[in-house]
Amino acid sequence: MSTVIKGGTIVTADLTYEADVLIEGGQIIEIGRDLKGDEVLDAAGCYVMPGGIDPHTHLEMPFMGTYSSDDFESGTRAALAGGTTMVVDFALPSPGQGLLDALQMWDNKSTRAHCDYSFHMAVTWWSEQVFNEMETVVRERGINTFKHFMAYKGALMVNDDELFASFQRCAELGAMPLVHAENGDIVADLSARLLAEGNNGPEAHAYSRPPAVEGEATNRAIMIADMAGVPLYVVHTSCEEAHEAIRRARMQGKRVYGEPLIQHLTLDESEYFNQDWDHAARRVMSPPFRNKQHQDSLWAGLQSGSLSVVATDHCAFSTEQKRFGVGDFTKIPNGTGGLEDRMPMLWTHGVGTGRLTPNEFVAVTSTNIAKILNCYPKKGAVLVGADADLVVWDPDKEKTITASSQQSAIDYNVFEGKQVKGLPRFTLTRGRVAVHDGELRGQEGHGEFVKREPNTSVGRALSTWKELTAPRKVERTGIPASGV
Ligand code: URP
Ligand code: ZN
Ligand code: ZN
Ligand code: ZN
Repeated sequence: MSTVIKGGTIVTADLTYEADVLIEGGQIIEIGRDLKGDEVLDAAGCYVMPGGIDPHTHLEMPFMGTYSSDDFESGTRAALAGGTTMVVDFALPSPGQGLLDALQMWDNKSTRAHCDYSFHMAVTWWSEQVFNEMETVVRERGINTFKHFMAYKGALMVNDDELFASFQRCAELGAMPLVHAENGDIVADLSARLLAEGNNGPEAHAYSRPPAVEGEATNRAIMIADMAGVPLYVVHTSCEEAHEAIRRARMQGKRVYGEPLIQHLTLDESEYFNQDWDHAARRVMSPPFRNKQHQDSLWAGLQSGSLSVVATDHCAFSTEQKRFGVGDFTKIPNGTGGLEDRMPMLWTHGVGTGRLTPNEFVAVTSTNIAKILNCYPKKGAVLVGADADLVVWDPDKEKTITASSQQSAIDYNVFEGKQVKGLPRFTLTRGRVAVHDGELRGQEGHGEFVKREPNTSVGRALSTWKELTAPRKVERTGIPASGV
């Protein structure tokens, strides 16, 4: 059974052209004019693009005394509804737990996924066991990225010595470290002080994590990665201070990637000053939303290429869960949703305003991600032989975002009331039509794990350079006698 997407305009990260796409066996088998197939999807007036890849999600994540409410079933359903066809989630060992043990838990959770997925492995503590298991994770499990939290002191946070050890291990294995870059010691101190002063509402969450906290940690992680000789991926870059560190590093030739979130690009800190406690608490995430100047910086980064990708950090908690923090903002579970809304919001506020071209949109939502995480061109491409993870994007289709019609399991949406123009007409996951003219036809369990090989070309180039410039003993001929 073949499917043909007819009459659309193909938009990739570097090309725009009119052609049909023929799909069979889950892959693209031909691109050209006047193609025929058993099932025909009418793409007239639409763009045919690689499906979105969300490089940063937390589905059914154990965190702050609870679990995030969207699991791999509802989370990937939301993803497909919004044109995203692959998610990369974080396998998160609790401190003391082995990496392989944690991976087994994530394998079990992900069996219900509607679309393909991969994992980053988190390093939340350090030991010989972690050192050894990292190799198995890379070589046998197809995971080439390791996440490190520089915040969440007393829980997930790792210190500089652990960061350096883990980054060096990543370099040896041809893997790439990721960092949540906030100075956890300072956040803990500021939080305690704010609470002691009676500043216990959700707005204090933002006060406890100013941009300097993020800028400092981003710069530190970049320097540690440089000393370890490994590329670095900085998750949820939210402010100019962090962006500046990334921009400077890239200008110096360092291999650093920055990932702004759709939330930080489109929502600002005024949300935390809302009179309604629930409204503000629902938007508590780390780093917090920033002001307009920081937003402008993030958009400029996407335009200039100093920031590489757009993610969601989808980590959805219900209002009831957020209320764990009434009277103490440090107990509000950190995280917001966005899987269904990332693509329409970025199209509307990026392409719709002229800040991004359609090709740049494809790059930052899909192709760059597939390249950086090393699953291109299986994913992130409209090419013969690539997986048929595609979105047929109708630039004229409009809706108002509202929780009452969303796929996510939670009872609100941080983008509630936002008007978007640009939505999927069809979303295909490995050739299977999961969204058909607004109707969801996904299949639970259809999603497969995507293995990602180590030793990317960037990683190899960097290790060649590091080897060439490594310290070398100078062999001398005349050695002075001691004491002379
Ligand atoms: O607040 C956030 N971002 N929650 C999810 C966990 C993380 O830090 O990425
Ligand atoms: Zn049809
Ligand atoms: Zn984080
Ligand atoms: Zn996250």
